[in-house]
Amino acid sequence: MTADLSSKDTAYTEVFLPPHNDTTYFTLPIGLQMFHLLSHERGTGGESQLVNGIAAAHVLKQKDADAFDVLCKTKLMAHASGNEGVMLEPVSAFSVFNVDPITDRLVSVRWNPADRTFVLPGDHSTHAEDVEKWYDAAEKYQNILNDRTNRSTFYEFKLQPGRPVMFDNWKLMHGRSSFTGSRKMCGGYIDHDYFMSTCRALGFKHQNGQL
Ligand SMILES: [Fe+2]
Repeated sequence: MTADLSSKDTAYTEVFLPPHNDTTYFTLPIGLQMFHLLSHERGTGGESQLVNGIAAAHVLKQKDADAFDVLCKTKLMAHASGNEGVMLEPVSAFSVFNVDPITDRLVSVRWNPADRTFVLPGDHSTHAEDVEKWYDAAEKYQNILNDRTNRSTFYEFKLQPGRPVMFDNWKLMHGRSSFTGSRKMCGGYIDHDYFMSTCRALGFKHQNGQL
């Protein structure tokens, strides 16, 4: 990636990118994401931000359980278009917070205002007040995401050539400050289920004993 708009996507610019999850326009967003800064010449800026969307959701739940509930239940669409021959949409609408109905665990977050469509699912039961409630809840969540003082949700750093960063796109959002000069990046995606499969096959255990 360079800031040349070779792909019609804000990732190919030098503008500030607010923290977001990638590929919310896929039916199943990608799992792991990697970034590797190859070079940054004749310029400044471009600091990276990682924001823990799951931890921020728990903050919202504590502050305003109704707002949390709205983001669990209201479903909406996303899309990616603007490049010739590409018009991606998920197979159905999804909520921002994906909660496991059996364990009640918050499994993933889908948050990308740039790819979100303004159309809520037309099931004829969505009323104007539901739309307002969603935007109210979304604003509260965004305010938590923007809180740079919360060390359990917000982390900022600068990528260095030779030191890639990899993270869980279902859990963490990523963003980037604006920059000047010439920056070359590369990166990649790994499917979440294949990653978890490898973890299980290798006997990997998380600190709390769960995968
Ligand atoms: Fe992104």
